[in-house]
Amino acid sequence: MLKELILENIGPAPAMELPFGKRINLLTGDNGLGKTFLLDIAWWALTQSWPAEVNRKLSSGMMAKPDDNSDARSGIKFSLSGKDELVEWDYYFDRKNQKWTGRYRLVEKDQQWSEGHLAPYPGLVIYAQADGGLAIWDSQRNLPDWRDLFFGNNNPHNRPPAFVFSPDEIWNGLQDSTGKRLCNGLIADWAGWQKEQGVTIRALENILTTLSPSQDELLRLGQLTRISLSDVRDIPTLRMPYGQEVPVLHASSGIRRILSLCYLLVWAWQEHSLACKLLGTPKATQLVFLIDEIEAHLHPKWQRSILRSLLEMAKLIGTWLPDAQVQFIIATHSPLILASMEPFFDSTMDKWFDIDLLSFHDSPPRVQLTEQVFLRRGDASNWLTSNAFDLKSGGLSLEAEQALEEASALLNGGQVDIAQVREVEQKLFSVLSDTDPFWIRWRYLLEKKGLQP
Ligand SMILES: Nc1ncnc2c1ncn2[C@@H]1O[C@H](COP(=O)(O)OP(=O)(O)OP(=O)(O)O)[C@@H](O)[C@H]1O
Ligand SMILES: [Mg+2]
Repeated sequence: MLKELILENIGPAPAMELPFGKRINLLTGDNGLGKTFLLDIAWWALTQSWPAEVNRKLSSGMMAKPDDNSDARSGIKFSLSGKDELVEWDYYFDRKNQKWTGRYRLVEKDQQWSEGHLAPYPGLVIYAQADGGLAIWDSQRNLPDWRDLFFGNNNPHNRPPAFVFSPDEIWNGLQDSTGKRLCNGLIADWAGWQKEQGVTIRALENILTTLSPSQDELLRLGQLTRISLSDVRDIPTLRMPYGQEVPVLHASSGIRRILSLCYLLVWAWQEHSLACKLLGTPKATQLVFLIDEIEAHLHPKWQRSILRSLLEMAKLIGTWLPDAQVQFIIATHSPLILASMEPFFDSTMDKWFDIDLLSFHDSPPRVQLTEQVFLRRGDASNWLTSNAFDLKSGGLSLEAEQALEEASALLNGGQVDIAQVREVEQKLFSVLSDTDPFWIRWRYLLEKKGLQP
């Protein structure tokens, strides 16, 4: 798993340091401050490939490129813990060759730094991107680019650097640049598994149940069906709570994102098991999930349960890959996600990192990432005013926030003018609910100043 990531002069901040927890890591921060960028770097650190370089159809996940206008050294350091060892990596950006060049050492053996390459850790990495794309890396089935460089076109392993799927390829299959089929895609595989009625379809059923929004809205498999005379494929369906069997191609965006994750997880596990058998190697002991905008397309009810479901999923994975440790690095914009973590946040294995844009009157604004203490706030709306989201007044409209500020300034000032009071009161009436707690304060202060509410 990824133990630590340290960035220097790369990305939006001059420096970023993330000592990861071994279970759940949450990343928060405004738009454009580097959450996705950090997930891309985490993927690269674990797999030594950039998603967009493996699959040119992607429009995100490009190589991290330092600012051309700066001469400062750009560095990425990280450490990965394998089953029994901790490996530290130290990369810098080689401008002449426009690539990251690094060295590594085994920390516990006090080894000297070595140039070159070392096979990454023994595990699986699953990256769910914000646009619905997904990438899988398997230590048994993928090799980093350097092996191809070393062996040239005669690469005897003939393995791709990773399996990187655009949203369409998850459903319809993935091919490499020579046209060789790497994955059949959700529709064909799911239909095949369902006809086979073996362990794979049961694994898919279990994982779908685990990640369902609730007991009343379980994601359950229906019969295979056809959706058009001109499409000969058997299309899987979901049995909806309202009694219909809906072809997965008609499923909602939220359901499709979860289906994609469940399908590719089962596919990755199945293919990993086959590869281990073929190669005579032990199964993965580590899984890392990188999930961008985990709340994407999910209703608040589902947002509230998704983290808990992921932890249940980790237990289920433990039955497929005994002793596997599962680590999550998750970016979110949702206060419900943070509130939902309160009952089970454990500071010995979970972490929360927040990225902020700091403004100083005497220097230009700068981006800063800090590890935050995770305090219970009791309610999602209280998270809106926390460091994670930095709103001044929780879930109020901008107009309501402005009216409240004006009302408070008026009442906290000295002499008040009755015309001004009536004007502000009108504004308050138009933006606050009748039961807003501010009315009590407003009336009390008016009375204190000798004014009629
Ligand atoms: N390949 C790259 N090389 C260098 N810097 C990059 C690269 N990709 C992104 N960045 C930096 O990250 C910033 C964009 O951040 P990112 O897309 O991670 O934001 P985000 O926090 O995920 O925002 P949102 O919530 O809108 O998704 C860019 O402005 C740039 O500074
Ligand atoms: Mg993003």
